[in-house]
Amino acid sequence: MTDTSSVFVVTGGAGGLGGATARLLAQGGAAVVVTDLAEVDERELRARLGESVTYVRGDVCSEADMTAVLDHAADRGAIRGLVHCPGRGFPRRIVDRDGAPFPLEQFETAVRLNLVGTFNALRLTAARMATNAADDGERGAIVLTASVAAWDGQVGQVAYAAAKSGVVGMTLCAARDLADLGIRVNTIAPGIFDTPLLARFSDEVREGLGASVTFPKRLGDPAEYAAMADQLLRNRYMNGEVVRLDGAIRMAAR
Ligand SMILES: NC(=O)c1ccc[n+]([C@@H]2O[C@H](COP(=O)([O-])OP(=O)(O)OC[C@H]3O[C@@H](n4cnc5c(N)ncnc54)[C@H](O)[C@@H]3O)[C@@H](O)[C@H]2O)c1
Repeated sequence: MTDTSSVFVVTGGAGGLGGATARLLAQGGAAVVVTDLAEVDERELRARLGESVTYVRGDVCSEADMTAVLDHAADRGAIRGLVHCPGRGFPRRIVDRDGAPFPLEQFETAVRLNLVGTFNALRLTAARMATNAADDGERGAIVLTASVAAWDGQVGQVAYAAAKSGVVGMTLCAARDLADLGIRVNTIAPGIFDTPLLARFSDEVREGLGASVTFPKRLGDPAEYAAMADQLLRNRYMNGEVVRLDGAIRMAAR
């Protein structure tokens, strides 16, 4: 994979883990297409992430939006890599203190963003990659993002844990499904990373979260996620795997 002729798509790239990944890929000389739901000033994004970055706003759950993102990317060259990052929690207990059950629409919203959006990006990108010329048999590589909550879901994380375990569950199946096309699929399951997702917590809470990690006793650095994503894109023997990137943390029930 020569970086100068490759295009990488980073979904959720206005955020912490996606942004760090887009920056690393752009540093390698690749054309990088960032998409996100956020209103982003492309010039500011380029200054932050690299001159080879372009931005297309879109919702990863929308077929039309993702198609527009991929059309834009295909105009820049062969799409060789996707790193898919959008996702967030919808914290709530199954039965709340007042006895009310978890609203079904909220559960569906969580599954839609974290799981359906992932599959939408996966399927549409894979169809584009399938048209690439094979490079030593390979046409593309895809990295999805789950969470350690897929195994260690905490109290209040039921919707997020269910959706993220769906991402874990689709990884090997997707790798098998796309093998004949020469497309690899791997997933990163992050522990606790220092991104805007955690910005709602005070410094004290974030320090406490860092101290709960086995080793090293700190929050993950988005650059560490980016380095793993980059490796999963490039290492041609890596396929169908879910990698916990978490400092050996095992989340307690609460
Ligand atoms: N930060 C952590 O500690 C952590 C831990 C485990 C898993 N994760 C997962 O990693 C991924 C990235 O997390 P992050 O910390 O970088 O979060 P973040 O909030 O910094 O970035 C996520 C980005 O996704 C975008 N987004 C949300 N909905 C979208 C949609 N429908 N279409 C397009 N973009 C959309 C947001 O605008 C945001 O820029 C998420 O899937 C998250 O669940 C994060």
